[in-house]
Amino acid sequence: MIGDDTSLHADTGVTSGMFVERSLNEIRFWARIMKEHSLFLRLGFRAEDTQLIQEANQFYRLFEQIEQTAHSFNNQTDPEHIRRFNSEVQQAATNIFGFKRKVLGLILTCKLPGANNFPLLVDHTSREANYFRKRLVELNQGKLQSLPDAIIKENVFFLRIMADHAKFIGHLLDPSERKLVDVARNFSNDFDQLLYQARDLESMKPQSQTAPLLDQFLDQNRVSVASLRDFKKTARDLIEQCKIKSIIHPLLADHVFREADRFLEIIDMFDAHLTGGTR
Ligand SMILES: [Fe+2]
Ligand SMILES: [Fe+2]
Repeated sequence: MIGDDTSLHADTGVTSGMFVERSLNEIRFWARIMKEHSLFLRLGFRAEDTQLIQEANQFYRLFEQIEQTAHSFNNQTDPEHIRRFNSEVQQAATNIFGFKRKVLGLILTCKLPGANNFPLLVDHTSREANYFRKRLVELNQGKLQSLPDAIIKENVFFLRIMADHAKFIGHLLDPSERKLVDVARNFSNDFDQLLYQARDLESMKPQSQTAPLLDQFLDQNRVSVASLRDFKKTARDLIEQCKIKSIIHPLLADHVFREADRFLEIIDMFDAHLTGGTR
């Protein structure tokens, strides 16, 4: 879990203990996410796309291995060892990013007619891979952004991710689930608005980076993210119990729930730093 003392960003340097803990936290979370992306992509390919299926399976195994290795380390592991591990994982994230962009290209040039991965979903998963990659570069360089910069950047990234999730859910539910499709569309609109607000705040930098504005920004985002997270949890439970009609894989429902939960942890961590006067 991301706690107060394990924040992703701070103005001060990173101690080696924090470096190990943060690195393992990021890798354990995102390696599982990358592994699951490989599965979702594979499920969306056509039976004849054997080469793509094979590539997806290779990435699945690679990230499964990375996940296991990350769990075999602990906070006492030698930082140098972790630094090398971060570089290896960063390379793997770069490679899966390339694979996702290649698949996106194939879809957008109509080379995979009848396949079932939405272009926006493939683009979305590539953005997550890029985020993961950049986070590892940052950790290894020990260069962290200032708290106000990190607050705006992380929120711009995650608000778009949340807006996308709402759109995916809305499109993968059966059209006859009219009520739920409506709820998903409302979340999509809500998060599009929040994203525009975040970009406005970003364009007003650095003048917009006052403690009251950033505090209010986090509070407003938290309310919507918490309610989207709860909706995803409900959807996940209903899908698992086979109570609603959809083409959503139960693991995808859980996957987007975990990503919302991650965003909430990050918001809370920023809030604690902001009000704790760590800046
Ligand atoms: Fe994801
Ligand atoms: Fe996502």
